[in-house]
Amino acid sequence: MRTQVAIVGAGPAGLLLSHLLDRAGVESVVVEARSREYVEARIRAGILEQSTVDLLREVGLGERLDREGDVHRGIYLQYPGERVHLDFVDLVGRSVTVYGQTEVTKDLGRARAAAGQEIVYEAADTAIHDAGTERPYLTFTGPDGRAERLDADVVVGCDGSFGPSRAAVPDPATWERTYPYSWLGILADAAPSTDELIYAWHPDGFALHSMRSATVSRLYLQVPNGTDVADWSDDRVWTALAERLGLDGWTLTPGPVTEKSVLPMRSFVQQPMRHGRLFLAGDAAHIVPPTGAKGLNLAVADVALLAPALAALVRNEDSALADAYSDTALRRVWRCTHFSWWMTTMLHTSADPFDTQLQLSQLRWVATSTAGATGLAENYAGLPIGF
Ligand code: PHB
Repeated sequence: MRTQVAIVGAGPAGLLLSHLLDRAGVESVVVEARSREYVEARIRAGILEQSTVDLLREVGLGERLDREGDVHRGIYLQYPGERVHLDFVDLVGRSVTVYGQTEVTKDLGRARAAAGQEIVYEAADTAIHDAGTERPYLTFTGPDGRAERLDADVVVGCDGSFGPSRAAVPDPATWERTYPYSWLGILADAAPSTDELIYAWHPDGFALHSMRSATVSRLYLQVPNGTDVADWSDDRVWTALAERLGLDGWTLTPGPVTEKSVLPMRSFVQQPMRHGRLFLAGDAAHIVPPTGAKGLNLAVADVALLAPALAALVRNEDSALADAYSDTALRRVWRCTHFSWWMTTMLHTSADPFDTQLQLSQLRWVATSTAGATGLAENYAGLPIGF
């Protein structure tokens, strides 16, 4: 097989890149290790920045998003005795939209299928070859067990932290931060008890009330690393959520739990996001902890930069944008890496009493000063693509 751009990974980054390339008249083939059902059901955060929504609309992917997505003006920030609404629209003129990553992936999958786009699901042992030359190629075992080779002008790794692409960049610089806590997340058939997300600091640990729809809630608790979900019955989870999110005059309405899992928290950045004819986008190059919901939005920003760069490279042999891609993308990556780290360390309880006082002071400042609130709002609602 031969194509112009071989894309490893059919998550939102890979599928959106393929969609954007198609619109720019560039052919691509997407190769994915998992099944389509698996990829579409993979639960991730569900908050889209304004620029993500704008881009999806602009490229013909806004129809269901506009119908089913829920526009939020801001968030609630909570600390003992206080729940303060930060209104992003008033503060920075931008909103966010609650629309699950699963839904974005489904819309992209449908759009690719409607365009007759080739996506190879269940490809095993994908390997990247000759990335440092003008003739890179992929090898993999197809779903029928046959050995395949895909030649391309360019390979793009959109295959997350566990895919083969990251390791195909030789001698990268890497930065990593691990955190001494994880999240226990539940999905529940319960109407959200709040109109907008609540991020709560509590002496027992952080809690987050998010949602997927008018009938489905998504909630999280800070738990120690190594926590076994089996130790957290549904009752124990709801009791802890009610305690940590509790506020006089407000009640949390529980419901049947349909999914429960423990999520690790990590910050990671790899530089450069390119080696010769191999480019990395999304989680393949960087990981943020989920506090702040930046992961999907960063992946979208990467491919929004990469699509025109690759179109210029493969159509006109103009490499200026491709040469600038890594440095340009990393500016935003580091902004979001800082913001996600900042939200994480401000909201998760720590064993150090000095840290606790700093956190409470910081929360009070962000919640009550326009300058403090504006900084959070600008980062949360998202900086313009190209920042
Ligand atoms: C979610 O809805 O899953 C979610 C929302 C906000 C976050 C993280 C996760 O910061």
